[in-house]
Amino acid sequence: MIGRLNHVAIAVPDLEAASAQYRNVLGANVKAPQDEPAHGVTVVFIELPNTKIELLYPLGENSPIQAFLDKNPTGGIHHVCYEVDDIIAARDRLKAEGARVLGDGEPKNGAHNKPVLFLHPKDFCGTLVELEQA
Ligand code: CO
Repeated sequence: MIGRLNHVAIAVPDLEAASAQYRNVLGANVKAPQDEPAHGVTVVFIELPNTKIELLYPLGENSPIQAFLDKNPTGGIHHVCYEVDDIIAARDRLKAEGARVLGDGEPKNGAHNKPVLFLHPKDFCGTLVELEQA
């Protein structure tokens, strides 16, 4: 059911330092920061030949990233995102298999303006999983 790895998201405590590290040390194609107020994050996309890295930094009060950074002050992998063809069909299949879909279970528009859902990390080897309809 899942397709390509769309991105790996890494929460970082210093967006400028993390961007510089990827640009200058790893030699990656690092884009400009984008504020995503609806998601409480500022995102920097890093384009790799076969996937993307998303650096996530808290934006505003009650950012979902803040608690993660409180627990992981140097940053860390926050989630992985897999592409699916039909997000409603994927959700219904996952629910039938007993997996927990976070929130109200309805897809929301994600950072790429495509519908996304998140799955409970305890159901997937301790990893928060995002599904994006590609
Ligand atoms: Co994501």
